[in-house]
Order: sequence, then C-alpha cells, then structure tokens
Amino acid sequence: MIYNKNFCIKTYGCQMNVYDANRVRTVLNFRGWNEVNEDEANLIIITGCSVRAKAEQKVWSEMGRYENSWKKFKRPIVALTGCVAQNLGQKALSRFQWVKLVSGPRHIGLLPDALEQIIKNPDSKLNLLDHDPKEFFNLDFDPDNTTILRENKFKAYVTIAHGCDNFCTYCIVPYVRGRFLSRKPDDIFNEINFLLNDGVKEITLLGQNVNSYGKDFNSNLNFAWLLNKVSEMNPARIRFVTSLPQDFTEDIINVMADKNNICPSLNLPIQSGSNKILKLMNRKYTREEYFKKVEILREKIPDIGLTTDIITGFPGETDEDFNDSLDALKKIKFDLVHSAAYSEREGTPAAKMPNSLPVELRLSRLETLNKIQDEITAEINKNYNNKTVEVLADDFAPKGENLLQGRTPSDKVVIFPGEKNLLGKFVNIKITHAENWCLHGEVIPE
Ligand code: SAH
Ligand code: SF4
Ligand code: F3S
Repeated sequence: MIYNKNFCIKTYGCQMNVYDANRVRTVLNFRGWNEVNEDEANLIIITGCSVRAKAEQKVWSEMGRYENSWKKFKRPIVALTGCVAQNLGQKALSRFQWVKLVSGPRHIGLLPDALEQIIKNPDSKLNLLDHDPKEFFNLDFDPDNTTILRENKFKAYVTIAHGCDNFCTYCIVPYVRGRFLSRKPDDIFNEINFLLNDGVKEITLLGQNVNSYGKDFNSNLNFAWLLNKVSEMNPARIRFVTSLPQDFTEDIINVMADKNNICPSLNLPIQSGSNKILKLMNRKYTREEYFKKVEILREKIPDIGLTTDIITGFPGETDEDFNDSLDALKKIKFDLVHSAAYSEREGTPAAKMPNSLPVELRLSRLETLNKIQDEITAEINKNYNNKTVEVLADDFAPKGENLLQGRTPSDKVVIFPGEKNLLGKFVNIKITHAENWCLHGEVIPE
C-alpha cells in the first residue's frame, strides 16, 4: 500500500510537548507533508505526557482506538512521541500493530526522516527511544526560510533549556526528558527575532526550570542575563515558565522589576507547605524560605500575579502536613493554583516510599484544597471589578459570538465584546464582572 504524506498531530501535556509538536509540524510542512483532520490522516503522531498515571492512560486508550480502522483499511499508521513514548514506547511498539515508530523527546531531530521512512515502508518498525539521557538531536531549521507554525499568531513559546536535573522524588520528567541542557543564546535570539518579525507580541521562555539557564555553560551567563537580553529585543511582553523556588534568585526579581516589558507574572511551584514533605520531595527549600522569596517579590513588584503548583497526598503526608499546605495558600493568596493528587510514577524514589496514602484520601484532600483556593481566587478577582486593565487581545473567546479574549500583564484571562480588527492589539478594558477562571469587561474606546 502506498500512503500519501499527510499527518495529524495530537498533543497532550505541558508546553514543552506543545512546543516540540509545533517544531515537528513546521518541518514536516516545509518538507511537503500535508496536515489534515484525524479521519483523513495516514499518519497520526501522538505527542503524549507521562506526568501522572491518568495522562498515560489517556494516550494508551487513544492508541487502542485505531484498531478497527487498522484491521479494515491498514491505516492510520501511528507514531508515538513526547514524554510518554520514552516511558511506554517499548510496550506500545509490541502491543499495537499500527504503532510503527516510537521516539523519545531527545530524538526530535531524527523524527522527520524517521517518519518518512515508515510512511514509505510501513511494514517496518522503528525505535528511536533515548538511551543516553545526555545525547540530544536538535531539530534544526532555518527560520528565515520557514514559517514557524504555532497555535497563536500573537503569542509564542521559545524553549531555552531541555531536560531537568532536579530529580524531585515524585517526578518522572528527569527520566523521560533527560539531563538539563541550555540552548545556545544565539539560537534563542534568532528564533525570537523571527517570531517578532512574524507579528508575535508576547514571548514565553520555556523550560522545566528556566532559572537554571546557563548552569551547564563554562561561563557566567545566567537566566537574569538572558532575561535582560530578551527584554532588549523589545517584545511587547515577556513571560517565562517554570521557576524553581531555590533557583529563583533576587537578580531575576531585579530584572523583572526593572524592565517594563517583562510581565509581572510568575509561576512558582511550592508543591507542599510542609517542611517534612518538601524534604521528602527533594525540593531544596523550606516553607520559610519560600515565604521570604514571595515577600521580596511582592515588595519589588507589588502587582505581581502569582500562581503555584501543589500536590496532595504525597507519601507520609499527615493531616498536619496537609494543613501546612492549606495554611500556605491562605497566607500567600495565590492568584491560581494548579493542584493534583499524588500519582505514583514507577522508577521514581517516591513510588517506593513507605506510608503511601489511599487514593480516596489524596482526592478528598485535593477537593478540600480546591474549595479553599476557589474562595481565595474569588476574593482576589472581585477586586478587579470596575478597574481598568491592559489586555493583549489574542484570540476569539472559545464560547459566545463576537467575544474576544486576552490576558492582563498579571496573566488573568479577560473576555470582552470586540471585533476581529482588535486581534493582536493592546486594549484597555474596564472589568464589569469577575469569575474564578476569567474576568469580563468592556473595551474603553481610545
Ligand atoms: N518543572 C516544574 C513542573 C513540572 S511537572 C516544577 O518544578 O514545578 C508539572 C506539575 O505536575 C508539577 O509542578 C507537579 O505539581 C505535578 N506533578 C509532577 N509529578 C507528579 C506526580 N507524580 N503526581 C502528581 N502531580 C505531579
Ligand atoms: Fe520535575 Fe522537579 Fe524537574 Fe520540575 S524541577 S520537572 S518537578 S524534577
Ligand atoms: Fe508531561 Fe513531559 Fe510536560 S511528562 S508535564 S509533557 S515535560
């Protein structure tokens, strides 16, 4: 059977996967492949996440769904990529006949050739899993001759570092994404330059721990330096994710406070409010040190939008430890909390720890925590009523006619009536009504 070169990419997980999938999409497009709907695709590329069991189950059932079609029509061919491939790839390759290629995140540079190989020769199977966590095959392209495909015309992510060396005891990321590797400054600047010329107004620098940028260089280039440099390239807005509390140093805060185009918004995952649990998690800060950082941050950047990640039901978490987490939320009052119940990841140290908690308890704590945070978010958002905020109108709102959406510098989502011609522009919005997930408002005419 001869397959036309058309494909569909299905992406799950965090922005690292989204960014990688967009790079693959960009190169395939450049090489003459057509991106089509899932039903028409001869090749389905699944870029999946492994961070929790549920994320993996989703991808597993996704792969199973192609069985009937494969039996009847011998299509589509499936390629499994992203973090989940590194963890489940071997199993998927032997379990599903239609999975012809598995490729780890650090083999991204070999993916386009490999995809061409399997579409030409679908009877073969290819295994490109990452055997050496230090080796990295970059997916290069010349931005001057290629349009970098992305979800949004006005906002773009730029990876500044791959992998992670922190080995928090619950986390699978260092095993699936390999060792920390900073991208060369010039590669980052070239990509940003291209994006700015292509109409991008907001750049988000991306990495599992952006604060460690440059630690693997033989020089004193660091994240504060990079942030400063990117700021001087004059994007209207700059953001960055994720920051690790122990590496989020005052020099970074100073650059943020200094530069108007670095948004006052920060995701600083606390993970737990209990010193005992933080230690078991191998997070190298105490709650007191975390509080101190937030204090300095709010002193220097009073309008900072602050979000966090937190896990409930880590092994050994007592009622008292959990209360410490609730207490941290009440004291700090985050704008938003990404919360999750602890999920064992095979091969990580926490999966072998004693005193594992029943799943029901992890989930009931999650519910309690979410309720408390909902009240805090409602209280914070209520304060926006009748205030004026500046928003980058970046897209149509997902629901409702003639509604646009955008974000404040502090990263609050705002929905407002507006025409297409406002897209890509900065508009002043008067907030009329606040919900937990978004604010509603009206454009103030210029
Ligand atoms: N590098 C980032 C986050 C990476 S993973 C950091 O250091 O914070 C994204 C989030 O998933 C984490 O912040 C954590 O809250 C959550 N997470 C990671 N492993 C998990 C696990 N085994 N169970 C539940 N949540 C987990
Ligand atoms: Fe995972 Fe910790 Fe690395 Fe974040 S810093 S990716 S939580 S190991
Ligand atoms: Fe998931 Fe990989 Fe991101 S495991 S959270 S997609 S780095």
